Amino acid sequence: MKFIVGNWKMNGTWDEKETFLKALKNVKTNNKIIICMPFTLLYGNDHGITIGAQNISEYNNGAYTGDISGKMLKDADIKYVLVGHSERRLYHNETNAIVKAKANAAIKNGITPIICIGETATDKNAGRTMTVVKKMLLECIPKTCKYIIAYEPRWAIGSGKTPTKEEITAIFEMIHKTLHQVGCENIALLYGGSVDSTNAKQFANVPHVDGLLVGGASLKSDTFLPIIKSID
Ligand code: 13P
Repeated sequence: MKFIVGNWKMNGTWDEKETFLKALKNVKTNNKIIICMPFTLLYGNDHGITIGAQNISEYNNGAYTGDISGKMLKDADIKYVLVGHSERRLYHNETNAIVKAKANAAIKNGITPIICIGETATDKNAGRTMTVVKKMLLECIPKTCKYIIAYEPRWAIGSGKTPTKEEITAIFEMIHKTLHQVGCENIALLYGGSVDSTNAKQFANVPHVDGLLVGGASLKSDTFLPIIKSID
């Protein structure tokens, strides 16, 4: 079983959600399909596809205008939430400490955080990928081993560029080993960044890759269904 997680980012209306979920309704798959939708689309899931959220407050309630807490997500029957996506880090200044606090807030409410980590193009060009990603990982993970890690190189997001097989093999080996060293076994690890139906299978087959996090290609069933089918 692999995880195939879609991230709709700031896209999607109620009608688009209905059309998408109807198209996916009868898909036969052994994989776990989760679509992380905007807050306005989290309710009303009766199509058998798991709906996740894209953000969570580190606080449970209070005077935090515009934020949504783990308590509220739990109330909406949400089981998965993205935390620390590179766009949150970039546009909302989320630090590793904030990401860790958000992951803890999710776990406290029985929600699995999908913690996103990944290096920038500058890091990569300076040969710092391994050290940067390892530091991010260690600074973001909660003590309780109840999370998923998504490795998304920032330079690969929406760019059509992807890491080589050697690069991705080495980074997942490092992430797996690091989690083992902190006493967390069986943590699901996802790859994200320019995944489409032509490359999904090759990423999913890399050792220690337990699934994919898909952005643009998850928005329409025409592009998402072939990904699901390609790795069954
Ligand atoms: P793309 O698949 O569009 O590159 O986006 C990846 C992503 O950011 C998923 O969280």
